[in-house]
Amino acid sequence: MSDTPIFDAVMDYSKKNYIRCHTPGHSGNGEALSDALSAVASFDVTEVDGLDSLYHADDIILKCEQNAAKLFEAKRTLISAGGCTLAIQTMIALVCQRGGKIAVSRNAHRSVVSTLALLDIEPIWLYPQDNVVTAQTVEDTLNSISDVLAVYLTSPDYYGRLCDIKSISEVCHSHSVPLLVDNAHGSHLGLLKTNLHPIHLGADLTACSAHKTLPVLTGGAFLNINNEQYIEDAKRFMSIFGSTSPSYLIMSSLDTAVDWALKNGKKSFIELEKKVSELKTTAKKCGILPDFENVDPVRLTLQPAKIGLSGIGAAKQLKSAGIITEYFDDEYVVLILTPFLNPSDFKIIDSAIKNLKSDGTSITKNNILKFSAAKAVMSPRQAIFSKSEIIPIYMSEGRIAADIVCPCPPGIPAVIPGEEISSAVINYLASRNISEIRVVK
Ligand SMILES: Cc1ncc(COP(=O)(O)O)c(C=O)c1O
Repeated sequence: MSDTPIFDAVMDYSKKNYIRCHTPGHSGNGEALSDALSAVASFDVTEVDGLDSLYHADDIILKCEQNAAKLFEAKRTLISAGGCTLAIQTMIALVCQRGGKIAVSRNAHRSVVSTLALLDIEPIWLYPQDNVVTAQTVEDTLNSISDVLAVYLTSPDYYGRLCDIKSISEVCHSHSVPLLVDNAHGSHLGLLKTNLHPIHLGADLTACSAHKTLPVLTGGAFLNINNEQYIEDAKRFMSIFGSTSPSYLIMSSLDTAVDWALKNGKKSFIELEKKVSELKTTAKKCGILPDFENVDPVRLTLQPAKIGLSGIGAAKQLKSAGIITEYFDDEYVVLILTPFLNPSDFKIIDSAIKNLKSDGTSITKNNILKFSAAKAVMSPRQAIFSKSEIIPIYMSEGRIAADIVCPCPPGIPAVIPGEEISSAVINYLASRNISEIRVVK
């Protein structure tokens, strides 16, 4: 039997045929929407009597969150209809409300940087070694800077590379500092043969962009809490950033995904692991499997540059076989594979991998973001709220960035507001077709 409290309540409400004198403005009438959207009108409800309230949940939403907490082995889980971004804003506010310092991996998503600016937090950047932040880097940082309030990592990254969360959480806890993990790409990690979810491995808080890898509508996410001290304020802080009109379509999909994951998730993801492992074997034979050490077993990242084909060229060739990829750059192409692809899709992907051929174009690797320490002249907050102007990118060397500049995906800022713009940043942005930049006046 399914245990889907939000979904059930929304269904019941839609069957009642009430005269809806409340938002949304389509009044539940499908004819008010275009044909393609009409089917969802009666389920697109709002926080009316009987449907609970996201930030004061004590009924169906709380029950869904309790089910989700079981799924993630968390002490408390909150749902978000404002994407992982809302979960990230909340978890940063929980550890650092009145400014202070947070150690943040430099491959952080743009939403992290804007939250630091909003809360006037000073980032202490952790630079990845061999692509990931190591326990040693975290240890060295915490030993050298005594007033760091939290450590914030992105794991997995876009390519599926994982940090050693277990060791890093031990380091953090030995310094009495909480570990926050942006697990946007890893909501499914607890469903794998080996549980790789950061909550299971010792993180205090995780933000999980459920819609990326679980059967959830775009915008659905979870905030997992594994440290009692953050539970009390979590809803309150989420409400500071979030919309007062959370989508019940999104929340219903989180609810049904939790039910699906509790019942079928493990079996489905273990089957997926096998299928992806076969694709990885094919990629290895074709010489395009990256030599990453610690990766999400179901993220398929190919490195066609190894056979003289850029990631951009590979994405084009895959598209001509009917396959749209999640991300590509000069060197890599990334595919998100889920249990909801058809079995025949895996055969098509397999043969498309076998057919990838060098297209003779040069691979500059200019459009791969490299992280090196930049000169920070002012804080992200000061820079974002300074008087600023937009100038051509080629004239910006030495000027101070006034905005987050990043191609999306991967959504990782090439330059942080307050930092001096370097020639390397200019080359990267130009290679991603960004021609202008906002700088401090
Ligand atoms: C690492 C990472 N964190 C956070 C986010 C933001 O997630 P959302 O779009 O669900 O707000 C993204 C989105 O791509 C991401 O890649």
